[in-house]
Order: sequence, then C-alpha cells, then structure tokens
Amino acid sequence: MQKPKGTVDITPQTIRGWHQLEEAIKSLTQMYHIQEIRTPVFETTEVFHRSVGELSDIVTKETYTFFDRGERSMTLRPEGTAGIVRSLIEQKLYIQPQKLYYTGPMFRYERPQAGRQRQFHQFGVEYFGYEDAASDAEIVAFAVTWLELLGIHDYVLKINYLGDHETKARYTKALVDYFTPIKATLSKDNQSRLAVNPLRILDDASLDLQGLPTIESMLSDAEQEYLQRFSSYLDALQIPFERDPRIVRGLDYYTGIVFEVQSTHPSFGSQTALLGGGRYDQLVAEFGGPQTPAVGFAAGLERVLLAMEYEGVLEPPKDGIDVAVCFMPETATDAFR
Ligand code: HAM
Repeated sequence: MQKPKGTVDITPQTIRGWHQLEEAIKSLTQMYHIQEIRTPVFETTEVFHRSVGELSDIVTKETYTFFDRGERSMTLRPEGTAGIVRSLIEQKLYIQPQKLYYTGPMFRYERPQAGRQRQFHQFGVEYFGYEDAASDAEIVAFAVTWLELLGIHDYVLKINYLGDHETKARYTKALVDYFTPIKATLSKDNQSRLAVNPLRILDDASLDLQGLPTIESMLSDAEQEYLQRFSSYLDALQIPFERDPRIVRGLDYYTGIVFEVQSTHPSFGSQTALLGGGRYDQLVAEFGGPQTPAVGFAAGLERVLLAMEYEGVLEPPKDGIDVAVCFMPETATDAFR
C-alpha cells in the first residue's frame, strides 16, 4: 500500500525542521500575545462555500467533499480562516478583540509538484476586532519577522489593495468592460475567469497589464488615506515592499490590503508564495456574527521548509545518544530499572 498522491510522510529524519518552525511559532506568538486556537479539520461544506467563495478555484475544483453517514455534506478544510470565523461566532469570542493563531493540515485537490501538495500544513494568524491600518502592518511585520527568525532572507513582500465591496465591484465591472471586446484573444482559462471571477485574470503572469484599468484609480479618498497610513507604518519598521496589482488572491473574502511573501531563491520552482493574507472586514457579518473587522495571513509550512533548506538554515537532526547503559544478562532487571 502507498500513501495517497500529494501527501508526505514526515519521518524522524525530517522532523527536525518542523520542530524548528514550531519553536519559532511558539516564541514569536508569545511575544506578540497571540493565542492558539484549534478547530476541526472538517466543517460542514457551507462554511467554505460562503467564505472562500462559491466560484473560487478552491471550492469549484479543489475541495475534498463527502457525505457522512448521516447524509450531511462535509469538507476537509482547504484553509483555516473560514473555520475560525465559524468558531469565533459559535463560541462568542467576538465579544472582545482577539489575536489568534493556528497550525495544522489543510487539504486541496491540486496537481502535486514541488511546494504543492494535497495535504499540506499552514501556520496562520487572524486578528479580529482591529480595524486600523496599524493592525495590517502589525500582521505583515509579524509574518516577516517570523521568516527572518527562521533564517529566511531571500524573499519579496508584495502588497495590493482590493478595496471594499463597492470598490471591488466597480473594478470588476471595469475589467469586464475592458476584456469583453477582446475576449477572443484571451486564453481558455481567462475566458472562463472573465465569466465567473474577472479579478483572477490579473493573476496570469503571462498577461500584459499595460493599458488596463487599475484599482488604484478607483479607490475612495478614505481608502487612499488608509493605504498611505499602512505604507508609513511599514516604512517606520523599515520593512521594504513592492506594490503589485497582480496580487488578487484566490479567495473571495478580502476587502482591503492583501499581501504575499514570495521566495526569490533561484532554486524555487513556480510555487513561490511562502505566505499570503489580507483584510476581510465583512466575513464575520456574512457568517451571521456582528460586524467585526478582521485581518490575517497563512503560511505554507512545506514551502517555508523548502526555503530554509535552500538557504541552508535547516538544523541537522538531533539524533545523538547521551547515555548508553551496558549490562550482563544477570543484571538485566537492574539495568532496565
Ligand atoms: P492561501 O494563499 O490560499 O491563503 O494559502 C496560504 C499559503 O498556503 C500559500 O501562500 C502557500 O504557501 C500555502 N499553500 C496553499 N496551497 C498549498 C498547497 N497545495 N500545497 C502547499 N502549500 C500550499 C489562505 O489560505 C488564507 N486563509 C490566508 C489568510 C488568512 N487570509 C486571511 N487570513
């Protein structure tokens, strides 16, 4: 028998790197006073349809969904945020601001390749009840500090701003107006994105964005000002970043700042995103909770481990034996004791 495609056995020979990650997570979350939350690895299917998005690639192509013996549709979590929002409401954690973190396996039915698995692991952080741009900057600073603590330096931080629902809707319409007359020149994938999720077209690295309407031009004054404040906080922390209109993220719930950290190490293949996240101020309310601003990110731990390996900062396995007890057959019991 063999393990399912896209899964990995983590053996005593490879566990050391995981412990390194976990130690850094423990110490840094403690320093930032971020508390751990653990939620189930499966949820009712609706939890992901209503958050990640009915038309997102993740929901339409990648979920492990099954009917349990009671004929209820269940889904193995493809990401952590949705389940945590469900829990925040069910456990009424929203009555005060929360800074939460989680680690654990996630499941996406994707074509396996280096840095892409069907069962992979995420470390994520979610802030609830914090609405200021300082919180977005704190989340980004936390993520970058964690990578630095692990010894990872070859990366670039990319930022984009998707705007609230209205701005996003206006921009989506502008993209539809732009692409519809030239639809025939688009790839098959982009033609279907145009029909279901036009923003995702920008994700296509081969597409020339020259001449395209920019979301920048559609932001309200308040949004411009927010972005400005966010940038000045990152500047104050001396965290360099690039603005990148291609960062549109594959999940529907984002409403403001979005960001990704991508590895720039030459050994990385096409899957360079070490972590990604952003603001999602409407999701708690959409799940039936009170209006609660939220921002977070998640890192793919397998990819972070690859980055550590490429940058030569993985510690060697701790397999040294400290003490050996030798004994004769007649002293076996004493030796055992
Ligand atoms: P995501 O960008 O879909 O965001 O995933 C976050 C990270 O998980 C990616 O940057 C990547 O490192 C890793 N990842 C994703 N798919 C795979 C895969 N098949 N194999 C290995 N690693 C993978 C989210 O999941 C959001 N929940 C992040 C977030 C939290 N936004 C707000 N709060």
